Amino acid sequence: MNHLQKAADLLLNAEYLIVLTGAGISKESNVPTFRGKDGLWKQYNAMDLATPQAFSQDPQLVWEWYTWRQKLIATCIPNPAHHTLANWEKNGTLKSLITQNVDGLHRKAGSTKVIEVHGDIWTLKCTRCSFHSRKTEPAEGIPTCPTCNANLRPDVVWFGESLPSMIMDQIFVELQKADTILVIGTSALVQPAASFPLLVKRQGGRILEVNIEETPLTFAADVHLSGKAGEILPQLDQLL
Ligand code: OAD
Repeated sequence: MNHLQKAADLLLNAEYLIVLTGAGISKESNVPTFRGKDGLWKQYNAMDLATPQAFSQDPQLVWEWYTWRQKLIATCIPNPAHHTLANWEKNGTLKSLITQNVDGLHRKAGSTKVIEVHGDIWTLKCTRCSFHSRKTEPAEGIPTCPTCNANLRPDVVWFGESLPSMIMDQIFVELQKADTILVIGTSALVQPAASFPLLVKRQGGRILEVNIEETPLTFAADVHLSGKAGEILPQLDQLL
């Protein structure tokens, strides 16, 4: 049996399928990934741009980088991988989608059961009070809080920050229910997300991986499908 058919059989037999996605799923939508040849972390230093210390030292620089990314993402549209997952949610195949991406493309494709582990680049939050607001336009300069006038920051998780406990609670509920996890386009290097599939495996579940290369998770995968998410997901869909 070929790998694609084996993966389709596992999906067909899944009682509670969840998905974990990373930057690779948005690569074919022209959103840059973080690692690899053209990755953002090859060109930019994460410590200067994606830490709370960087923001308090130079909010202007951090906002310039996020505004640039917001402008770039604003031009991107979901690709067939995002659309396939949105359809699987609608037809009941997929129970929930955990993403490390902040680009909002899963929601743009129509997915609603999305848990954004690393936040959302379009949501701003106040550095002092509880103000939150979701924008559709890229930020200009350093946006300030309409309530307390402190600087607003992107509502994303930076290096050195913990994931919000509400998000972690939601994720653990899903991981406990899952008997199958499909992992798409993540280097599986950033914790805690990199461990989520292993938690499903430990309780007897299956891991399916879609990636253009092998990752530290490949050894644990029941099936590794090598290729682009935007091509493999529609092929899998044809077999369901
Ligand atoms: P990475 O950039 O680390 O990894 C992208 C993965 O996608 C790699 O394993 C690639 O092989 C794979 N890939 C690239 N193109 C693909 C395609 N067309 N189809 C399938 N796979 C493809 O991205 P993440 O694993 O998402 O965190 O990175 C995790 C976190 O590190 C990010 O959420 C971000 C970053 O620092 C924060 O900003 C907190």
